[in-house]
This record gives sequence, structure tokens and C-alpha cells, in this order.
Amino acid sequence: MRNLDIKSEFPESLTHGVRVAKQNRGSTGEGIWRVEVVDPLSNGVPSISLDTVVKCTEAKDNHVEEMPLADFIDFCVQYLDGEGGMILDMPFLERITEGEIRVFMLRNKVVNIVHKKPADVPDAFSATLFSGAKYSYESPDQWPELVQLVTANVPVIQQRLGNYDLPLIWTIDFILDTDKQNGNDKYVLGEINASCVGFSTHLELSKDIADEIVRLMEAEAVVNPRWVAFAT
Ligand SMILES: Nc1ncnc2c1ncn2[C@@H]1O[C@H](COP(=O)(O)OP(=O)(O)O)[C@@H](O)[C@H]1O
Ligand SMILES: [Mg+2]
Repeated sequence: MRNLDIKSEFPESLTHGVRVAKQNRGSTGEGIWRVEVVDPLSNGVPSISLDTVVKCTEAKDNHVEEMPLADFIDFCVQYLDGEGGMILDMPFLERITEGEIRVFMLRNKVVNIVHKKPADVPDAFSATLFSGAKYSYESPDQWPELVQLVTANVPVIQQRLGNYDLPLIWTIDFILDTDKQNGNDKYVLGEINASCVGFSTHLELSKDIADEIVRLMEAEAVVNPRWVAFAT
């Protein structure tokens, strides 16, 4: 995934296949667009012209719009406004039909997996609830390879994102891809959510989450005597 200069780079990017352009501040699929060229391109074209018609599908509700690439680019300029405005560009991963795999984290531990399958209708690629995706709640035991991958990489994620303390609860979303070298499954990071993650659909985790909060407050009380956990 890379931050894109949409005007100068997106026409070239589209020659590599179907793309997903993402605004930086979206949620529930808003401003997340799958973009594909409608008529097949000839091999080896370095870039496509701005009057090429593209089919754009928004993850919010899987609705489709067709327009010249120039119009799509003009439309996306709104996503660049203000602080943090940017557009991320990544290849469209067609194995999204097998579902997005949400790893639900309690600090450094994987505590749940949510498997989110897009609606089974033409053009659907969105794993968001409002778009009709179906969620199933699975045990981390069913995903040993992924759990191992995530657990081993928590320190790397933490370091790459600025060495902040880990959030109490956060989620890491993956989409499956196939490694071209050996045909093995590959997990591609789609996004990390670290704010406003709720656990009302995971109430069985309440005790573990409460225990973790108490541990954090006790640890804080050790380093900061003014903040004594549960002082009487
Ligand atoms: N590269 C991709 N390939 C296939 N589907 C994608 C890709 N990126 C995002 N999606 C789909 O779009 C949805 C919304 O994208 P996401 O990055 O999760 O944004 P949001 O913050 O709005 O949830 C995902 O749940 C997934 O279904
Ligand atoms: Mg998402």
C-alpha cells in the first residue's frame, strides 16, 4: 500500500490491474473505491489516458459508477483536503470473496477472529456490515498460522507506528492473497483500527478486558504514586 499522487501516478498504477484507492479518514467503506478499466488495455502500455472509462465500486454499499478517469481523479481531490488528507493505493485482492479476516487484539494478545464475507452478489467486495457482508466469529485456534504471524510481529507494528503503547483493544484486518513463488497463502494487511473499537459483539471477553485494565492501572500506580489504582 502506498500514498499516491493521484493525478500523476494513478493512470500508470491502473496499467498494473484493478486497484483499490482509499481515502485516509474513511470508515465503513466510505471513500474506499475499487477502480478498474472497462475496456481491456493492450499489453505494455505505460499509462492510460484521462478519457479512459473506469468502473468504480465504493465499499460503502458496493454501488457502481462508470466515468472517465479524469472525473474520478477530480472527485478524489476532496480526500486530499486538510491535515492527514491522502489517498492510499493498493492492488485489488480478488480473494476478498473468501472474506476479510479481522484479528481482534487485547494489547499484545490475539483474542478473537472475525471472518467477514462480502455479500454474495455481483460486484460486492466490501466486508462492511452495512453493505451486507456476513460476519462469523471464530476462535484464534482456527487460525494458528495467522495468530503466530501477528504475535511475532506486534513489536514491529508498534515500532513502525511510532513506538506508542499498545491500545487496550485494537484490530488488524487481513485479506488473503496467493504467493506467486510457491502458491502458498499470503496474508495482506488491509487496515488497523485503533480508535473506537468496541467489544459489544465479544462480551465473553469482558473479564479479560477488565483484568487488563486493572493490570494497566496497577502498573501506572507503581510508576506514578499520585495515580493509585483503586485507592481507598
Ligand atoms: N486491496 C483490497 N482488495 C480487496 N478488497 C479490499 C481491499 N482493500 C479494501 N477492500 C475492501 O474494502 C473494505 C473497506 O476497506 P477498509 O480499508 O477496511 O476501509 P474502512 O476503514 O472503511 O473499513 C474492506 O472491508 C474490504 O472488503
Ligand atoms: Mg475496514
